[in-house]
Amino acid sequence: MMSRRKIFVGNWKMNKTPQEAQAFCEAFAPAIGGVSNADIGLAASNLLLPSLTTRFRGIQWFAQNCHWAASGAFTGEVSTSMLKSVDVSGSLVAHSERRQMCGETNLSAGQRVAALLGAGMQAILCVGETLTERDSGRWTDVLKTQLSEAFEATGIKHWTAALGSDPERPLLTLAYEPVWAIGTGRAATSAQAQEAHAFIRGWLKENLGTEVSQRLRIQYGGSVTLQNVDELMSMPDIDGALVGGASLKAEDFAQLVTRGAKSV
Ligand code: PGA
Repeated sequence: MMSRRKIFVGNWKMNKTPQEAQAFCEAFAPAIGGVSNADIGLAASNLLLPSLTTRFRGIQWFAQNCHWAASGAFTGEVSTSMLKSVDVSGSLVAHSERRQMCGETNLSAGQRVAALLGAGMQAILCVGETLTERDSGRWTDVLKTQLSEAFEATGIKHWTAALGSDPERPLLTLAYEPVWAIGTGRAATSAQAQEAHAFIRGWLKENLGTEVSQRLRIQYGGSVTLQNVDELMSMPDIDGALVGGASLKAEDFAQLVTRGAKSV
């Protein structure tokens, strides 16, 4: 089995003023200085990004959403070139909060992924089922639809370009985030998460071939904490974490990342 470099990203959502973000980073950056075997990023509000990317270069910076058009009449949106111009590495795409509250679809998710990869930027595409969909046994169908529709909107050209030029850091990362585990304190068990990640990797293999499926990283997200990170990260198909609540305090998130990066 190919070993994949882990990727941990904190999703701050709509939290932190510029002052709070700076205080966080002043504590966080030195605390993660010794972690060299994993990628560490933060997804922050667009308001915060320009000053943070300038001051804290050891952290990979992500937007929480990004539009597919180059420019134009898209009120409230941000483009890949705007993000790139302030050294943002990439963006989350189709987080479940955006799917539920902002009308994000699989089609628009695919368009966003295509724009990011086309610009040579990272995309973290979020997928995951609701509690009803899990309880009714339909979770694999849901994941398959989310992946296939986004993939169809994007086109194979982009998904194979997803490997990028750095063998350790493919441009596309998938995040399995079961909606029922986000912000609820009820994480998927490591066995449930592994099963879903293996399903996603199987889909990748079927549609994009063995190499892409082995190299793309799949993060788990949904109530990841210091208590469960070891067990989740020890699963063969879990290549990192997307962390909401537990990424808001610098010391806690630094500890979580340090511990998660050590798990094999
Ligand atoms: P949580 O959020 O860690 O607070 O559950 C995860 C996410 O929304 O990405």
